Amino acid sequence: MVYKFKLFLVVFMFTLAGSVSADHLNEHSVEKRTKPSGSVYVEGDDVPVSKPAVVASTGSRTTEDIYKTKCAACHATDAIGAPMFGNAASWTDRIAKGEETLINNAMNGFNAMPPKGTCGDCSADEIKQTVLYMIANSQ
Ligand code: HEC
Repeated sequence: MVYKFKLFLVVFMFTLAGSVSADHLNEHSVEKRTKPSGSVYVEGDDVPVSKPAVVASTGSRTTEDIYKTKCAACHATDAIGAPMFGNAASWTDRIAKGEETLINNAMNGFNAMPPKGTCGDCSADEIKQTVLYMIANSQ
């Protein structure tokens, strides 16, 4: 009796497993799982246009935010030769060049200093304020 019941269970489990895997292999799910991860659009296709995210360049972020998210990666240390934030010694000679020069160099790039310090959506005023913020905290 017990033996028969076990047999029944085994058969039942196989049936269950069979139906599950059959479901997994149905045409739709195979197509879904094997479709390429990207789509290629050729000229003339309707391309779904997603609006670029509007990034507020003023108001929502402070100068300190900009420094921390955009400039600190290089300026928090002197590892790659960037004048280090808070380190007066690495800023003295630069400050002597005049604020205008420093702001222009930050805007346009200067040797390994990338234009706008990689803050592509920063306004000229934001760059200026960030430079002044760095200077003010580094002397
Ligand atoms: C990818 C690294 C990197 C990032 C990010 C970066 N800087 Fe720099 N920055 C440098 C380096 C390197 C120098 C030194 C260049 C030199 O003197 O040759 C520098 C120099 C400067 C100078 C001095 C320029 C001069 O004329 O002496 C200012 C001002 C400055 N950076 C501001 C900023 C500001 C503001 C940001 C953020 C918006 C920023 N940097 C982001 C690497 C970076």
